[in-house]
Amino acid sequence: MIQTFENAFVLHTDNTTYAIRLLPTGQPEHLYYGRRIHADKEEDLLSLTEKHRFQPGDSVVYDKEHQEYTLNDMCLEVSGLGKGDQREPFLELTHSDGSFTTDFVFKEYETGTGKEPMKTLPSSYSKLGDEAPDTDAPDAEAPDAETPDTEVPDSEAQRSEAADCEYLKIVLRDSNYDNELELTYYVFAGCDVITKTVRFINTSGQPVKLRRILSNQIDYADPGYVMTTFTGAWAREMKKTVIPVAAGTVMSGSISGQSSASANPFFMISRPDAGEDTGDVYGFNLIYSGNHIELAQVSDFGKLRVLQGINPMQFEYTVDPGEDFEAPEAVMTFSDKGANGMSRNMHHFIRRHIIRGAWADRERPILLNSWEAAYFNISEHRLLSLAKAAKSVGIELFVMDDGWFGERNDDSSSLGDWTPNKKKLPGGLKSIADKVNQLGMKFGIWVEPEMISENSNLYRNHPDWAVQLPGATAGGRGDSGVISSVPSNAFKHSEGRNQRILDLSNPAVQDYIIESMSDVFGSGNIEYVKWDMNRVFSDVYSKYLPSGSQGEMLHRYMIGLYRCMKELTERFPDILFEGCASGGNRFDLGILSYFPQIWGSDDTDAISRAEIMTGYSYGYPLAAVGAHVSGVPNHQTLRRTSLETRFNISAFGVLGYECNLADMSGDELKEIAAEIELYKKWRPVFFRGEFFRGRSFTGGAGSCGGGMTAPAGVLSIAGSVLGRDDTNTAEWTVVSPDKKKAAGMIIHKMVHPNTQFEYYRPAGLSPDKRYHFSGRSLKYDVREFGDLINTVAPFHVKQGSVTHNVIAKYVKMDGETEDITAYGDTLMAGIKLSQAFGGTGYDSGVRHFPDFASRIYFMEEC
Ligand code: DGJ
Repeated sequence: MIQTFENAFVLHTDNTTYAIRLLPTGQPEHLYYGRRIHADKEEDLLSLTEKHRFQPGDSVVYDKEHQEYTLNDMCLEVSGLGKGDQREPFLELTHSDGSFTTDFVFKEYETGTGKEPMKTLPSSYSKLGDEAPDTDAPDAEAPDAETPDTEVPDSEAQRSEAADCEYLKIVLRDSNYDNELELTYYVFAGCDVITKTVRFINTSGQPVKLRRILSNQIDYADPGYVMTTFTGAWAREMKKTVIPVAAGTVMSGSISGQSSASANPFFMISRPDAGEDTGDVYGFNLIYSGNHIELAQVSDFGKLRVLQGINPMQFEYTVDPGEDFEAPEAVMTFSDKGANGMSRNMHHFIRRHIIRGAWADRERPILLNSWEAAYFNISEHRLLSLAKAAKSVGIELFVMDDGWFGERNDDSSSLGDWTPNKKKLPGGLKSIADKVNQLGMKFGIWVEPEMISENSNLYRNHPDWAVQLPGATAGGRGDSGVISSVPSNAFKHSEGRNQRILDLSNPAVQDYIIESMSDVFGSGNIEYVKWDMNRVFSDVYSKYLPSGSQGEMLHRYMIGLYRCMKELTERFPDILFEGCASGGNRFDLGILSYFPQIWGSDDTDAISRAEIMTGYSYGYPLAAVGAHVSGVPNHQTLRRTSLETRFNISAFGVLGYECNLADMSGDELKEIAAEIELYKKWRPVFFRGEFFRGRSFTGGAGSCGGGMTAPAGVLSIAGSVLGRDDTNTAEWTVVSPDKKKAAGMIIHKMVHPNTQFEYYRPAGLSPDKRYHFSGRSLKYDVREFGDLINTVAPFHVKQGSVTHNVIAKYVKMDGETEDITAYGDTLMAGIKLSQAFGGTGYDSGVRHFPDFASRIYFMEEC
């Protein structure tokens, strides 16, 4: 619901309120964002309004008529530069006279329902042609050409809850330069989410250079918050870090050209005492896949400013008179039910308003991906034997990863040459797709459309299509031996995985990607595509853009990418697309607006994965995170974990397999088949259920925002007594929307001796329903107990001997049984699990729970 008063606007979601008032000086003041409050009339907001009478100390007063107002000590909806506010600005631009000062004040507003898709491109795009300017004269203006039909991704209100979305548009005008700024707030009441878009419109008659235009600003009146970021690197994405923001500025973000594994655009601001299930937590995100920045700054006066948007580094956008620029949409939510409450709001919003298309609500097939089974060493024969093994255990989709095209035998060549390698695939894509289909499985492929290998026909024909400095023409690196004619003025280009990035700011390159991928996707029955992107940007330069527009390059790249993704997902609406960027280098809402799932990490180790997936779960539904069971020792960590643990973790994401099933033992295949059968039965719950974190490897209950600052809770005390810390154990629960079914998981890293009594605490159950709680009935290999076998064997068994192996073949150790019926409220008090093995005896009532062990449990209303 949106309420408008003479000088105030109030936005209500079901459980939150956001309030704005217009200052007598014209700037919109941020009054409040938090749990839902009443506002029947404007006076109801008086208690939220700061009463300014005289300017403090040496501050700049806004103008002579308003001696009491210094913008430096106001909570503002947007801030510029040059009018006394000395905090980080939301907007920074250069006017044609060279000035940086902006002063946006209220002009008018509008309210309505529904949501128009965001404007296609920054309209200034049309000034560029589709022919690359002469690279020797990079200042050259290209001829005019038609703007390709494209868009930026944004939230969608057209699906289930169109009527649920209302908007408030506030138009501001620069009191000196006449430019306009439109702030639009979209209220998604049912999800407790508000999104913002910001459009700068050049109505000044003179060109303007945008140096920074962010997407969200929240000024909190007091500084008592912590910021939680999710940072990392390749193979260790989404590490949760809680940072107190006591003074100065905390900054997170990316300048790699991708949303990046270094810092996901999702972050939280919370009260230090907030936990997983209690306390005030704000979640923020951006619908964008490129460079971004998140800032939390405590001002001289103790106010906290939070900003998010496109990273201003390497960004400078010229907006000509009459044209405009729209910043990516920002997403925010608030919950007073801790981090879990905030996460659930985000999950609902992403499921309903970000993920779209034919696969949005469709359960995903279980896949086998060839990468860790074969890497580049593939052939139709090899792939088919993998596919047959996959079929035998119940896998539904076979995915051929890298190595199928051009001369792609390693990562040094062929990106851009999207024709099947005849030696590996003599019958091309159609033949292998048909053969996999005949086995009764869907077929999918891997592509990396945004890339170009220097050693490729594409590069030989179009060297100017690569992102590289103007002097780095063909052979510019001069050391690959691929191209003999090295120009004497060649710039040195930096490489990543032996490849360069295609210049997607150039519409001709976009067209090439759309057409070449359409050929690939149409050349057989391809029902799944993994869209990879394996290097960060360097030597950023577009030969298509004039030299004065290079600050637009990285944003135009994103716009070009979104055009390709939109066009291809529309041309192939039934293909299931999975995003990937060396794992989680581009796990963001921009990608999820086109592709309904993303490969979360190249780290397939179950323990790492449990940490990474916990990180994702704060901002994203795990039903959008690709999660594969891989071989052991794991290829990234060399760690050995049980198949059970590998399955238990992956089942909470989009389950897949990435291992050499063709080489696995009969026992292993039997176990995998049983797990897949179980998963299929529970897939609707995993896919559609609400997710709850309990204890957590990343700092569990009682330490969401305040993990670093809150006093140690009961868990920590217990943890220290037992010699284990709070981050040793993790618990997840997923509950069906009707609360009739739930699946849960407990996992620990290390065994601590003589601490056998453990509990699993589910969450989200209906307190009033009775549930049957059960585990799987498991059997264990006797060899896992080593030479302890001699404590029961009638004769001596040498460990690892033939006798030991023969016994192992016929004798399995029964695992414990969990079988309880109780009300949801009782179960949620914590279910005491069977005693774990502690060195004093073992029978079928004992839980076999060595290092990296886990259990999955099921709860069904009865
Ligand atoms: C990086 C991806 O993340 C991997 O899963 C795999 O697809 C390789 N690229 C292939 O080159």
